[in-house]
Amino acid sequence: MYIDTHCHLSQEDYEDIDLVIKENRKACVDKIVISGCTKESIIESLEIAEKYDDVYVTIGYHPSEAKLIYKNDIIELEKNLSNSKVIGIGEIGLDYHYGKDDIELQKQLFREQLKLAEKYSLPVVIHSRDATQDTINILKEYQNVKGDIHCFSGSVEVAKEYISMGYYLGIGGVVTFKNSNLYKVIEKIGIDNIVFETDSPYLTPEPFRGKINSSKYLPYISKRVSEILNLDEKEVTDIVLKNTYKLFDLK
Ligand code: NI
Repeated sequence: MYIDTHCHLSQEDYEDIDLVIKENRKACVDKIVISGCTKESIIESLEIAEKYDDVYVTIGYHPSEAKLIYKNDIIELEKNLSNSKVIGIGEIGLDYHYGKDDIELQKQLFREQLKLAEKYSLPVVIHSRDATQDTINILKEYQNVKGDIHCFSGSVEVAKEYISMGYYLGIGGVVTFKNSNLYKVIEKIGIDNIVFETDSPYLTPEPFRGKINSSKYLPYISKRVSEILNLDEKEVTDIVLKNTYKLFDLK
């Protein structure tokens, strides 16, 4: 059994959501966690979660939305946190990849959402791109908040730092790419602090790279991690599942 801790499921990318859910079940993907990270996708992901038992959501404004989010939107976000299908806040964080002109707005938005995570004791799903040090510094201001680092792609040292702060690392399709060095990190840190994700529709694992991604490909990520660690796949799946339950306080 698998849980996709981070995906984006939207009518815009998938014509038939019913079919996606059916295919997940066939692939033993028992639960998925949709990340609603824009005003529109938050509404849509909550609608999908309401319809299917095996769909949960994290909601929170992505750093690339920083210029579009006002006080009212934070109030709206807070209201939705009481929805029983909302199990975390995310993806939130910092993204300097496309420039730093809105860096202060990004930091402010990040902190406001971390405050909500603290207030409601919810885990956070962190998006950090070309902003590792600032991300770590800000997370350290909120020591009671825990979560996972979505699509982790840093060094062994950075991985260890996040783990020491109580965060899990989200491992997805990138681990199957031939040019990825992520295996070196996994060799060093093992599986005790890892959760699996697809980030679908993006980052499709091998051997499907080039096609649209889906949670049903999660077993290929698990298989690759088992190979890297030379462990039985069942053992890997069980431990990662346990990590995931702990991260999101699922029962
Ligand atoms: Ni994502």
